Amino acid sequence: MPVNQQNICIIGLGYVGLPLAHAFAAKGYTVHGFDINEGRIEELQNGHDSTNELSDTQLQEVTINFSTDAAVIKECDVVILAIPTPVDDNKKPDLTPVRKASETVGKNMKEGAIIVYESTVYPGTTEEICGPILEEHSGLTCGKDFTLGYSPERINPGDKEHTVTKIMKIVAGQDSKTTDILCALYGDIITAGIHRAANIKTAEMAKAIENAQRDLNIAYVNEVAMLCHKVGINSSDVLEAAGTKWNFLHFQPGLVGGHCIGVDPYYLVEIAEQLGMDTHVISAGRKVNDGMAKLVVDEVLDAIGGKGKILVMGLTFKEDVPDTRNSQSYTVIKALQNAGCDVYAHDPKAPNGDVPRATLEDGPYDAVLLLVQHKEYREMDTQHIIDAVKDGGVIYDIKGMLDAEKITASGRKFLAL
Ligand SMILES: NC(=O)c1ccc[n+]([C@@H]2O[C@H](COP(=O)([O-])OP(=O)(O)OC[C@H]3O[C@@H](n4cnc5c(N)ncnc54)[C@H](O)[C@@H]3O)[C@@H](O)[C@H]2O)c1
Repeated sequence: MPVNQQNICIIGLGYVGLPLAHAFAAKGYTVHGFDINEGRIEELQNGHDSTNELSDTQLQEVTINFSTDAAVIKECDVVILAIPTPVDDNKKPDLTPVRKASETVGKNMKEGAIIVYESTVYPGTTEEICGPILEEHSGLTCGKDFTLGYSPERINPGDKEHTVTKIMKIVAGQDSKTTDILCALYGDIITAGIHRAANIKTAEMAKAIENAQRDLNIAYVNEVAMLCHKVGINSSDVLEAAGTKWNFLHFQPGLVGGHCIGVDPYYLVEIAEQLGMDTHVISAGRKVNDGMAKLVVDEVLDAIGGKGKILVMGLTFKEDVPDTRNSQSYTVIKALQNAGCDVYAHDPKAPNGDVPRATLEDGPYDAVLLLVQHKEYREMDTQHIIDAVKDGGVIYDIKGMLDAEKITASGRKFLAL
């Protein structure tokens, strides 16, 4: 039995919302799950999660009332929003989904409810943007008739070890009573403990800077890798040597895509701009990481002499997930296509998209680019890839998964970041 008696509604049942709904339901809470995506609700009602965050067994072992009917919000004491927070084409935060979901909640919430945001946002979003939308559409007064909370989600998609209940949860409410209630509620499902943040803005900022820090650390090793290329040495050898010092931070160069690390720093840039401040370090990290796809393409085109038949292996933004949002693999593919290359894609996890699919057996290729560290690729024999590439052709191994010496000895060109 749950320690608290609240009915909970999760708004947005994606990578974040669904595991959270599951965690509350597994503890015996009455959980409603609302999403505007009918297809998503249908698959969840049928006991399947296409994001692979929950197995069919996990999903089917709990009771969650999945619905596209916003009326379920009325029944809930705590409403938790896990709505996307992307950037637009100009890399500006796009709060439209959060605004729209807040309108829906405002129209349907009951008096006395606590409305909690889990989406990654810039400080001030919950209280200065979402609170007034909720007031406008509910006719209620924030802080009196209902209160706000913020608790960022820190899961790592595809990571079956650090799942929602095993990550310390940052929790903040707009007043101490709300914070107490939310700490007790989340404390009931989170085994890793609760961090009571000083206030909502602090919790919002903490989440955004976590991801920006990761972006910057990767940008640093990406820049190091570029410099190593100029110097004519292998960046992984350099990082291995430097990594023997006890306080050297271990990061690998790579493409930074997805909807978190490559996006959240822009939320900090935005709030800084609104407050009349320039971000130098945060913006530099984004610039370096956004430039890595071009570096890969330039090196491949140079090595194959401008044009050719290419297989890109790995379309998702990271390994072992089916999520292709903001994947840099697509930036690489588009640039290769624009250069006149005949590009094919392979991915054991990603759903079929616009790029024609092919396998290594459909070679020989002028170049094979291994861009994502999927388990299937980590277990692949280097010879299998060598056999698919023309003599003198290129194998680009972005994460150093293959046997570089074997590739070079075979007469193929080995490239890596
Ligand atoms: N995916 C992650 O690993 C991760 C980790 C930490 C934080 N976050 C943050 O959590 C938030 C949610 O991310 P996600 O990955 O779960 O997104 P997602 O796209 O997987 O899921 C969001 C869901 O919200 C639904 N939705 C959109 N608008 C809606 C509306 N108006 N009403 C109801 N439902 C609506 C969508 O249909 C979708 O199912 C984002 O702010 C993200 O940055 C994500």
